[in-house]
Amino acid sequence: MKILLSNNDLNEALYDVSNLGFVPTMGSLHKGHISLIKKSLKECKKTIVSIFINPTQFNNKIDFKKYPRNNKKDMSILKKLKIDFLYMPKVEDIYYPKRKASIKLKKKDKILCAKFRKGHFEGVIDVMERLTKKIKPQKIYMGEKDYQQLYLIKKYVQKKYNAKIISCKTVRDNNKLAFSSRNILLSKYELTQARKISKEIFLLKKKLSKSKNIKKLIINKRKELIDSFNIKFDYIELRDKFSLKVSNKVKNSKLFIAYFIKKIRLIDNF
Ligand code: PAJ
Repeated sequence: MKILLSNNDLNEALYDVSNLGFVPTMGSLHKGHISLIKKSLKECKKTIVSIFINPTQFNNKIDFKKYPRNNKKDMSILKKLKIDFLYMPKVEDIYYPKRKASIKLKKKDKILCAKFRKGHFEGVIDVMERLTKKIKPQKIYMGEKDYQQLYLIKKYVQKKYNAKIISCKTVRDNNKLAFSSRNILLSKYELTQARKISKEIFLLKKKLSKSKNIKKLIINKRKELIDSFNIKFDYIELRDKFSLKVSNKVKNSKLFIAYFIKKIRLIDNF
Protein backbone atom coordinates (compact mmCIF):
# COMPACT_ATOMS: atom_id res chain seq x y z
CA MET A 1 0.00 0.00 0.00
CA LYS A 2 1.43 3.34 -1.12
CA ILE A 3 0.53 6.26 1.13
CA LEU A 4 0.00 9.49 -0.80
CA LEU A 5 0.17 12.61 1.33
CA SER A 6 0.18 15.30 -1.35
CA ASN A 7 -1.01 15.98 -4.89
CA ASN A 8 2.52 15.38 -6.13
CA ASP A 9 2.52 11.91 -4.58
CA LEU A 10 -0.88 11.30 -6.11
CA ASN A 11 0.08 12.38 -9.63
CA GLU A 12 3.26 10.31 -9.58
CA ALA A 13 1.54 7.19 -8.29
CA LEU A 14 -1.41 7.34 -10.69
CA TYR A 15 0.61 8.33 -13.73
CA ASP A 16 0.06 5.10 -15.69
CA VAL A 17 -2.76 3.48 -13.75
CA SER A 18 -5.92 2.37 -15.54
CA ASN A 19 -9.00 0.50 -14.31
CA LEU A 20 -8.92 2.32 -11.00
CA GLY A 21 -11.59 1.94 -8.31
CA PHE A 22 -11.99 4.79 -5.81
CA VAL A 23 -13.51 4.63 -2.32
CA PRO A 24 -13.88 8.11 -0.80
CA THR A 25 -14.12 8.17 3.02
CA MET A 26 -13.72 10.42 6.04
CA GLY A 27 -11.91 7.67 7.95
CA SER A 28 -12.75 5.90 11.22
CA LEU A 29 -13.24 2.89 9.03
CA HIS A 30 -15.81 0.23 9.85
CA LYS A 31 -17.45 -2.78 8.20
CA GLY A 32 -19.51 -0.53 5.90
CA HIS A 33 -16.38 1.08 4.43
CA ILE A 34 -14.67 -2.30 4.26
CA SER A 35 -17.47 -3.77 2.12
CA LEU A 36 -17.04 -0.93 -0.41
CA ILE A 37 -13.28 -1.46 -0.50
CA LYS A 38 -13.64 -5.22 -0.99
CA LYS A 39 -16.01 -4.64 -3.89
CA SER A 40 -13.52 -2.30 -5.55
CA LEU A 41 -10.65 -4.75 -4.96
CA LYS A 42 -12.71 -7.46 -6.63
CA GLU A 43 -13.88 -5.42 -9.60
CA CYS A 44 -10.93 -3.15 -10.39
CA LYS A 45 -7.27 -3.69 -11.16
CA LYS A 46 -6.19 -1.03 -8.64
CA THR A 47 -7.98 0.47 -5.66
CA ILE A 48 -7.46 3.87 -4.07
CA VAL A 49 -9.06 4.88 -0.75
CA SER A 50 -9.12 8.49 0.39
CA ILE A 51 -9.35 9.66 3.98
CA PHE A 52 -10.26 13.33 4.11
CA ILE A 53 -12.51 14.94 6.70
CA ASN A 54 -13.97 17.55 4.41
CA PRO A 55 -14.50 20.78 6.37
CA THR A 56 -16.90 22.30 3.83
CA GLN A 57 -19.59 19.66 4.31
CA PHE A 58 -19.97 20.33 8.04
CA ASN A 59 -22.63 22.91 8.69
CA ASN A 60 -21.57 23.01 12.33
CA LYS A 61 -18.03 23.71 13.59
CA ILE A 62 -18.40 21.61 16.74
CA ASP A 63 -19.54 18.64 14.67
CA PHE A 64 -16.40 18.98 12.52
CA LYS A 65 -14.15 19.22 15.58
CA LYS A 66 -15.80 16.22 17.22
CA TYR A 67 -15.79 14.02 14.11
CA PRO A 68 -13.84 10.85 15.04
CA ARG A 69 -10.26 10.57 13.78
CA ASN A 70 -8.43 7.22 13.88
CA ASN A 71 -5.69 7.33 11.27
CA LYS A 72 -3.43 4.71 12.85
CA LYS A 73 -6.15 2.09 13.11
CA ASP A 74 -7.43 2.99 9.63
CA MET A 75 -3.99 2.51 8.12
CA SER A 76 -3.61 -0.91 9.67
CA ILE A 77 -7.06 -1.98 8.37
CA LEU A 78 -6.21 -0.77 4.85
CA LYS A 79 -2.82 -2.44 4.87
CA LYS A 80 -4.41 -5.77 5.74
CA LEU A 81 -6.96 -5.33 2.95
CA LYS A 82 -4.03 -4.84 0.55
CA ILE A 83 -5.37 -1.75 -1.20
CA ASP A 84 -2.98 -0.17 -3.69
CA PHE A 85 -3.13 3.49 -2.64
CA LEU A 86 -4.20 5.47 0.39
CA TYR A 87 -4.67 9.19 -0.34
CA MET A 88 -4.63 11.44 2.74
CA PRO A 89 -4.55 15.00 1.44
CA LYS A 90 -4.35 18.16 3.51
CA VAL A 91 -7.01 20.86 3.20
CA GLU A 92 -4.70 22.92 0.93
CA ASP A 93 -4.27 19.97 -1.44
CA ILE A 94 -8.00 19.90 -2.05
CA TYR A 95 -9.03 23.55 -1.67
CA TYR A 96 -6.30 25.32 -3.59
CA PRO A 97 -7.22 27.20 -5.72
CA LYS A 98 -9.76 28.52 -3.26
CA ARG A 99 -13.28 27.18 -3.02
CA LYS A 100 -15.67 28.41 -5.62
CA ALA A 101 -19.19 28.58 -4.30
CA SER A 102 -20.85 27.75 -7.60
CA ILE A 103 -22.65 24.55 -6.64
CA LYS A 104 -26.35 25.09 -6.25
CA LEU A 105 -28.87 22.39 -5.52
CA LYS A 106 -32.11 22.45 -7.49
CA LYS A 107 -35.15 23.37 -5.44
CA LYS A 108 -36.60 19.88 -5.70
CA ASP A 109 -33.39 18.43 -4.21
CA LYS A 110 -33.63 20.57 -1.07
CA ILE A 111 -35.32 17.81 0.90
CA LEU A 112 -34.36 15.42 3.73
CA CYS A 113 -30.79 16.20 4.88
CA ALA A 114 -30.45 19.02 2.32
CA LYS A 115 -33.26 20.80 4.13
CA PHE A 116 -31.91 20.21 7.62
CA ARG A 117 -28.15 20.56 7.00
CA LYS A 118 -27.85 23.75 4.95
CA GLY A 119 -24.80 23.70 2.68
CA HIS A 120 -23.91 20.10 3.53
CA PHE A 121 -24.43 18.55 0.09
CA GLU A 122 -22.93 21.56 -1.69
CA GLY A 123 -19.76 20.73 0.31
CA VAL A 124 -20.02 17.02 -0.50
CA ILE A 125 -20.51 17.66 -4.23
CA ASP A 126 -17.63 20.15 -4.26
CA VAL A 127 -15.18 17.77 -2.60
CA MET A 128 -16.31 14.82 -4.73
CA GLU A 129 -15.77 16.87 -7.89
CA ARG A 130 -12.30 17.90 -6.73
CA LEU A 131 -11.33 14.34 -5.75
CA THR A 132 -12.72 12.86 -8.97
CA LYS A 133 -10.90 15.42 -11.12
CA LYS A 134 -7.60 14.61 -9.42
CA ILE A 135 -7.94 10.82 -9.18
CA LYS A 136 -9.76 10.15 -12.47
CA PRO A 137 -11.14 6.76 -11.39
CA GLN A 138 -13.17 4.49 -13.65
CA LYS A 139 -15.47 3.55 -10.78
CA ILE A 140 -16.42 5.22 -7.48
CA TYR A 141 -17.86 3.03 -4.72
CA MET A 142 -20.46 4.62 -2.44
CA GLY A 143 -22.88 3.31 0.19
CA GLU A 144 -26.68 3.27 0.22
CA LYS A 145 -26.44 4.14 3.91
CA ASP A 146 -26.13 7.74 2.71
CA TYR A 147 -28.78 7.32 0.05
CA GLN A 148 -29.39 10.98 -0.67
CA GLN A 149 -25.65 11.58 -1.00
CA LEU A 150 -25.39 8.69 -3.45
CA TYR A 151 -28.41 10.02 -5.37
CA LEU A 152 -26.99 13.54 -5.63
CA ILE A 153 -23.47 12.42 -6.56
CA LYS A 154 -24.95 10.29 -9.34
CA LYS A 155 -26.94 13.30 -10.49
CA TYR A 156 -24.38 16.09 -10.13
CA VAL A 157 -20.98 14.38 -10.45
CA GLN A 158 -21.32 11.17 -12.48
CA LYS A 159 -22.52 12.93 -15.62
CA LYS A 160 -19.72 15.47 -15.61
CA TYR A 161 -16.84 13.03 -15.26
CA ASN A 162 -16.11 9.74 -16.86
CA ALA A 163 -16.59 7.74 -13.66
CA LYS A 164 -19.33 5.28 -12.84
CA ILE A 165 -20.84 5.48 -9.38
CA ILE A 166 -21.32 1.98 -7.95
CA SER A 167 -23.93 1.81 -5.18
CA CYS A 168 -23.25 -0.65 -2.36
CA LYS A 169 -25.70 -2.16 0.13
CA THR A 170 -25.81 -0.88 3.70
CA VAL A 171 -23.93 -3.09 6.17
CA ARG A 172 -25.69 -3.55 9.53
CA ASP A 173 -25.00 -5.30 12.81
CA ASN A 174 -27.26 -8.12 14.08
CA ASN A 175 -29.64 -5.56 15.55
CA LYS A 176 -30.14 -3.81 12.19
CA LEU A 177 -28.08 -0.79 13.25
CA ALA A 178 -26.07 0.48 10.27
CA PHE A 179 -22.33 0.79 10.88
CA SER A 180 -21.37 4.45 11.00
CA SER A 181 -18.28 6.38 12.08
CA ARG A 182 -20.56 8.44 14.30
CA ASN A 183 -21.54 5.36 16.35
CA ILE A 184 -18.18 5.70 18.14
CA LEU A 185 -19.51 8.94 19.65
CA LEU A 186 -22.40 7.13 21.37
CA SER A 187 -22.15 5.87 24.95
CA LYS A 188 -22.83 2.17 25.56
CA TYR A 189 -26.36 3.00 26.67
CA GLU A 190 -27.00 5.25 23.67
CA LEU A 191 -25.69 2.55 21.33
CA THR A 192 -28.25 0.13 22.79
CA GLN A 193 -30.94 2.76 22.26
CA ALA A 194 -29.84 3.25 18.62
CA ARG A 195 -30.02 -0.50 18.05
CA LYS A 196 -33.54 -0.68 19.47
CA ILE A 197 -34.62 2.29 17.32
CA SER A 198 -33.18 0.67 14.17
CA LYS A 199 -35.06 -2.52 14.87
CA GLU A 200 -38.29 -0.57 15.42
CA ILE A 201 -37.91 1.26 12.10
CA PHE A 202 -37.05 -1.97 10.31
CA LEU A 203 -40.24 -3.56 11.68
CA LEU A 204 -42.26 -0.44 10.85
CA LYS A 205 -41.17 -0.68 7.20
CA LYS A 206 -42.36 -4.29 7.14
CA LYS A 207 -45.66 -3.33 8.71
CA LEU A 208 -46.22 -0.54 6.18
CA SER A 209 -46.42 -3.08 3.35
CA LYS A 210 -49.51 -4.58 4.94
CA SER A 211 -51.18 -1.35 5.97
CA LYS A 212 -53.79 0.84 4.33
CA ASN A 213 -52.98 3.88 6.42
CA ILE A 214 -49.26 4.38 5.92
CA LYS A 215 -49.20 8.03 6.93
CA LYS A 216 -50.87 7.37 10.27
CA LEU A 217 -48.61 4.44 11.09
CA ILE A 218 -45.51 6.59 10.49
CA ILE A 219 -46.85 9.50 12.56
CA ASN A 220 -47.75 7.18 15.43
CA LYS A 221 -44.37 5.42 15.41
CA ARG A 222 -42.61 8.79 15.35
CA LYS A 223 -44.52 9.86 18.47
CA GLU A 224 -43.92 6.54 20.18
CA LEU A 225 -40.15 6.64 19.55
CA ILE A 226 -39.87 10.23 20.77
CA ASP A 227 -41.62 9.24 24.01
CA SER A 228 -39.77 5.96 24.60
CA PHE A 229 -36.24 7.04 23.69
CA ASN A 230 -36.23 10.77 24.27
CA ILE A 231 -34.93 11.44 20.75
CA LYS A 232 -35.51 14.30 18.33
CA PHE A 233 -36.37 13.66 14.70
CA ASP A 234 -35.32 15.82 11.77
CA TYR A 235 -37.47 13.57 9.60
CA ILE A 236 -39.03 10.16 9.10
CA GLU A 237 -40.44 9.99 5.58
CA LEU A 238 -41.39 7.42 2.99
CA ARG A 239 -40.02 8.43 -0.41
CA ASP A 240 -39.74 6.92 -3.87
CA LYS A 241 -36.26 5.45 -4.27
CA PHE A 242 -35.83 6.68 -7.85
CA SER A 243 -37.22 10.21 -7.66
CA LEU A 244 -37.00 10.82 -3.90
CA LYS A 245 -40.52 12.24 -4.08
CA VAL A 246 -42.78 11.68 -1.04
CA SER A 247 -44.58 8.40 -1.52
CA ASN A 248 -47.64 6.74 -0.08
CA LYS A 249 -46.91 3.24 -1.30
CA VAL A 250 -44.20 0.89 -0.10
CA LYS A 251 -43.27 -0.53 -3.49
CA ASN A 252 -40.07 1.12 -4.75
CA SER A 253 -39.95 3.34 -1.67
CA LYS A 254 -37.58 3.76 1.23
CA LEU A 255 -38.23 4.96 4.72
CA PHE A 256 -35.73 7.74 5.43
CA ILE A 257 -34.85 8.77 8.97
CA ALA A 258 -32.62 11.36 10.63
CA TYR A 259 -32.71 11.76 14.38
CA PHE A 260 -30.67 12.95 17.32
CA ILE A 261 -29.69 10.92 20.38
CA LYS A 262 -28.57 13.80 22.60
CA LYS A 263 -26.29 15.75 20.23
CA ILE A 264 -25.37 12.87 17.91
CA ARG A 265 -27.22 12.90 14.61
CA LEU A 266 -27.84 9.51 12.97
CA ILE A 267 -29.31 8.83 9.53
CA ASP A 268 -30.49 5.68 7.83
CA ASN A 269 -32.95 4.33 5.28
CA PHE A 270 -34.86 1.06 5.11
P1 PAJ B 1 -18.06 8.48 5.16
O1 PAJ B 1 -19.16 8.78 6.09
O2 PAJ B 1 -16.72 8.10 5.71
O3 PAJ B 1 -18.56 7.32 4.22
C1 PAJ B 1 -17.77 6.85 3.16
C2 PAJ B 1 -18.60 5.91 2.32
O4 PAJ B 1 -18.97 4.77 3.10
C3 PAJ B 1 -19.92 6.53 1.83
O5 PAJ B 1 -20.13 6.20 0.48
C4 PAJ B 1 -20.95 5.91 2.75
O6 PAJ B 1 -22.24 5.83 2.19
C5 PAJ B 1 -20.36 4.53 2.97
N1 PAJ B 1 -20.90 3.90 4.18
C6 PAJ B 1 -20.95 4.41 5.44
N2 PAJ B 1 -21.55 3.56 6.29
C7 PAJ B 1 -21.91 2.47 5.56
C8 PAJ B 1 -22.58 1.24 5.86
N3 PAJ B 1 -22.99 0.93 7.09
N4 PAJ B 1 -22.77 0.35 4.85
C9 PAJ B 1 -22.36 0.64 3.57
N5 PAJ B 1 -21.71 1.78 3.23
C10 PAJ B 1 -21.49 2.69 4.20
O7 PAJ B 1 -19.82 9.77 3.15
C11 PAJ B 1 -18.75 10.31 3.40
O8 PAJ B 1 -17.80 9.73 4.19
C12 PAJ B 1 -18.37 11.67 2.83
O9 PAJ B 1 -19.51 12.45 2.67
C13 PAJ B 1 -17.59 11.58 1.48
C14 PAJ B 1 -18.40 10.88 0.40
C15 PAJ B 1 -16.25 10.85 1.69
C16 PAJ B 1 -17.26 13.02 0.97
O10 PAJ B 1 -16.54 13.74 1.90
